[in-house]
Amino acid sequence: MLIKNISYVKNVKKILQSHFEVSKYQDEIKNGGIIVIQNLFDKKKINQLKKYLIEIGKNSLPEYHPVKVGAPNHHRLVNNDPRSIVQCAFHQFSFYRWNQDLMDVFSIFEKGFWIKNILSNRNKNDFLKINPDLKDDFVARVSIQFYPSGIGYLNEHSDPVGEHQISAPLVIMSDKGPKKDFSTGGSYFYGKNKKKIFVEDIAKVGDLVIYDSSLPHGVELVDKKIKNKNWIDFKGRWTAVLATNKVDGSKSTRNSIDLQKK
Ligand SMILES: [Fe+2]
Repeated sequence: MLIKNISYVKNVKKILQSHFEVSKYQDEIKNGGIIVIQNLFDKKKINQLKKYLIEIGKNSLPEYHPVKVGAPNHHRLVNNDPRSIVQCAFHQFSFYRWNQDLMDVFSIFEKGFWIKNILSNRNKNDFLKINPDLKDDFVARVSIQFYPSGIGYLNEHSDPVGEHQISAPLVIMSDKGPKKDFSTGGSYFYGKNKKKIFVEDIAKVGDLVIYDSSLPHGVELVDKKIKNKNWIDFKGRWTAVLATNKVDGSKSTRNSIDLQKK
């Protein structure tokens, strides 16, 4: 039995149109509940996007660019880098609203940003301007993350929440189970009994999972028992974080905190 409260939402219009529903879900999130918006995103588009990113990931060099107004879309590989605020191993693909791309990534995920903004008491399109102001403290970023089987993990941590966001919601992009994309591990948070709840056990591809990102959560090593582990086959777990990040150097909110770092 899951002790933590999980609410499944099938009809998202209810949230978008009713103040009562908004405050009900805000209370649930603030009390440690999880909201799963089902079938919010197009599964076909998610699968096309994964194929596209695999081509990019295999055929171009990863590079690092700080979060800044006007930053390019790019991909980056983080493999136990001591410079990371939260220790991790994953391949990350970042998209910003002001860049255009073949898959029009923001059109795939923008509904998720709208819901997140409304639940954060923001205007629906906040942080989503095509022409951002150079003085903006926060920018929206689609952070698509690939965790290779046997390699990918993210230490338990707490993310900043505040006026800019109530949550950094997750898009489910992989199936979990025997003979599926991956079988063990992945993103988790805790139920009231301190038992790990894995997101892919409670939600399916195309769902959006909203939770209080300041509560401890992480990514348990994906497929820890696998022997054939590598970055290049792209066998493992995909997810996307619909992030509202402070720009590099801004002091407008705290950084994430690694809860496992010694
Ligand atoms: Fe996080």
